Amino acid sequence: MRAFLCTPGWEPALAHELARGNRVVSQLAPGVVAIDGGEHDGHDDPVFSRQALPAASLVEGASVRELAENIFATLDGALDGWPGPLSLHALAHAQPPPGLASRAELCAREVLGLVESRRRRTFRRLRELQNEATPFDQTCLLIQLLALERERFVVSAAPPRPLPLGGFDLARWPGGDAPVATDRAPPSRAYQKLEEALAWMGRAPRAGELCVDLGAAPGGWTAIAIARGARVLAVDRAPIAPALARHPRVTMTVGNAFTYAPPAPVDWLLCDVVCEPPRSLAIIETWLTRKLCRNLVVTVKFKGRDGYDVLGALPPLFARLRPTLTFARVKQLRHNKNEVTVMVRNADAPAKMR
Ligand SMILES: C[S@@+](CC[C@H](N)C(=O)[O-])C[C@H]1O[C@@H](n2cnc3c(N)ncnc32)[C@H](O)[C@@H]1O
Repeated sequence: MRAFLCTPGWEPALAHELARGNRVVSQLAPGVVAIDGGEHDGHDDPVFSRQALPAASLVEGASVRELAENIFATLDGALDGWPGPLSLHALAHAQPPPGLASRAELCAREVLGLVESRRRRTFRRLRELQNEATPFDQTCLLIQLLALERERFVVSAAPPRPLPLGGFDLARWPGGDAPVATDRAPPSRAYQKLEEALAWMGRAPRAGELCVDLGAAPGGWTAIAIARGARVLAVDRAPIAPALARHPRVTMTVGNAFTYAPPAPVDWLLCDVVCEPPRSLAIIETWLTRKLCRNLVVTVKFKGRDGYDVLGALPPLFARLRPTLTFARVKQLRHNKNEVTVMVRNADAPAKMR
């Protein structure tokens, strides 16, 4: 079984994405969808999931002690032969009853106690993955304990696998939720979705770089880019917050995002314009195929809970541009409501930008 985590309410969209061949797709709990059987090519990167639990098993136990023993027995084979670092994430499903998240924590502690006493050398290789300095690649075993109910867990142990268009099939953060610090400076909370996207990309605007921010008002995304030292060409039909408009590294243009073209190619296209999905997709295609930007973060917004199939236009576009793309992913991030975020990095950028 392979389980996927999503924002509660979007299980049908995720199930629709995962359904193919003779796979059996089922919802295990709020925000948890699993596939059983059928071909699995290891390259699933569903838009509506931020974390996967590969090679997963259902484990039951009446007490924390019994659960931990059964989880240890399930994991033992994977732990035994694993030569590299490992990490453990424990969490409850997305709408847990009181006590379920702490039960997952208790179970994790008990499991770690068993690993420490029975597999001492393995225990010494435990790492904290949330620290971005810790390498996160195929050498690392990610163990995930997901509480569905008090007595029923999904247990997974697998290394992250590289995806064809960059990134890995597993996220380094528990539940796939990248940490986003609270910041009172930006004039809107929209900054959170840009920060989350930048964490996923492993790259961010930096000093000396130029960003175009389409649909910039009131200025949350612009504020993030200038806080990181970049310059911003902000474009909106409405003005951005006066303090930002006066900033020496911000140039505000009152105009139409769909007809705006930068004077020369820029380092980043940031676009959070509210419009029909095909219009956002057209912006992505134009800016990428005309090489107007090296990196891109664009939100695609939806009305109602369907119409997501338009996103099917993106993989063929990425495939066409593949020789230069090093990272191209589409995700419904934790801070996205009924929208998804398209994130693209190009190879011709310097290797390390953070
Ligand atoms: C969700 S808000 C952007 C929030 C912004 N990212 C922030 O962090 O503050 C969407 C913006 O798109 C702008 N917009 C919508 N249609 C536009 C168009 N055709 N040209 C320029 N801006 C447009 C709206 O005026 C609005 O300010």
